Amino acid sequence: METAAYSDLKGKSALITGAGAGIGRAIAQALVEAGANVILNDLDKDLASLTAIEVEATGAGRCLAVPGDAGDIAVIDAMVDLAMSEFGRVDFAIPNAGITVFGAFDEVTPEAFDRINHVNLRGSYFLTQRATLAMRKGGNPGRVVLMSSNVGVQSYPMLSAYSMTKSALQMMAKNLVAELGPHGITINALAPGATLTERTMKEQDDYAGVWSELVPRGQIAMPEDIANTCLFLLSDASRHINGQTIVVDGGWSATSPLPKEVASDNVNKTSDITGKTKEVSANLDELGVVAQAA
Ligand SMILES: NC(=O)c1ccc[n+]([C@@H]2O[C@H](COP(=O)([O-])OP(=O)(O)OC[C@H]3O[C@@H](n4cnc5c(N)ncnc54)[C@H](O)[C@@H]3O)[C@@H](O)[C@H]2O)c1
Repeated sequence: METAAYSDLKGKSALITGAGAGIGRAIAQALVEAGANVILNDLDKDLASLTAIEVEATGAGRCLAVPGDAGDIAVIDAMVDLAMSEFGRVDFAIPNAGITVFGAFDEVTPEAFDRINHVNLRGSYFLTQRATLAMRKGGNPGRVVLMSSNVGVQSYPMLSAYSMTKSALQMMAKNLVAELGPHGITINALAPGATLTERTMKEQDDYAGVWSELVPRGQIAMPEDIANTCLFLLSDASRHINGQTIVVDGGWSATSPLPKEVASDNVNKTSDITGKTKEVSANLDELGVVAQAA
């Protein structure tokens, strides 16, 4: 699927976290194709470097990697500093990195809860703060796109901590219009539904098939579907949209049907789901991640 082209993105400078794979990578790719320059972050150092090289090779703009934890202030500052030294400006901030623990309320540990907040909220909040400070100093009427989720709009079993962070991002967008609006900066949240990425494919057998049946449009989202909306929100075409949450889920949240194993949920059956989640978490421990995003 092709991503939309907006000529006003050319020469702009963007910061994107968690962009070594999945949705973030698709946004980075689309921006570089449009002639924007990107600072790409990922927790996985090798993946960040490799992705930046691959993305830059196929587009008109540049793409440079700043590896590290998206919730780490030093990493956030390094992204802003590199954008300023290499591109001379910051126009866009897309705090995209997000993680979760999929499991029953009773099973969520304080450590997992803190880690989710660290990446999803602290990372998003302070990237927005530092990036918009650079925008304000440079007199750039920039844009922030926060990466929420449709489960921040509609409740979904076994995702309590994750959903709370994704709802909080929607309020963050609303709240900050008053402080950022006078500088010409807009801030919105993008709330994807089930999207086919390397990770989601691994998480559930036939993820695409299961979710294509549940989504009213009859198809699961591809990362480019989310990237297309993000580019629109970064472009001048959306300049009057501010403080909003744009749900991109093919209509799922309007009816919210659940996969069979989740819909028939009870305490015994959830052990299958949490068992699978723990398996995912164990793999990600190598990266220092609690679990991947939903
Ligand atoms: N994929 C979906 O179905 C879906 C649905 C709704 C919302 N989202 C949200 O979209 C965003 C991207 O999701 P995705 O599925 O493309 O991501 P993903 O889980 O595939 O991860 C993308 C990248 O983020 C990196 N990452 C993980 N923790 C990080 C950290 N602390 N710092 C920096 N990088 C880190 C990973 O190494 C990975 O390469 C997330 O915020 C997620 O919550 C995704």
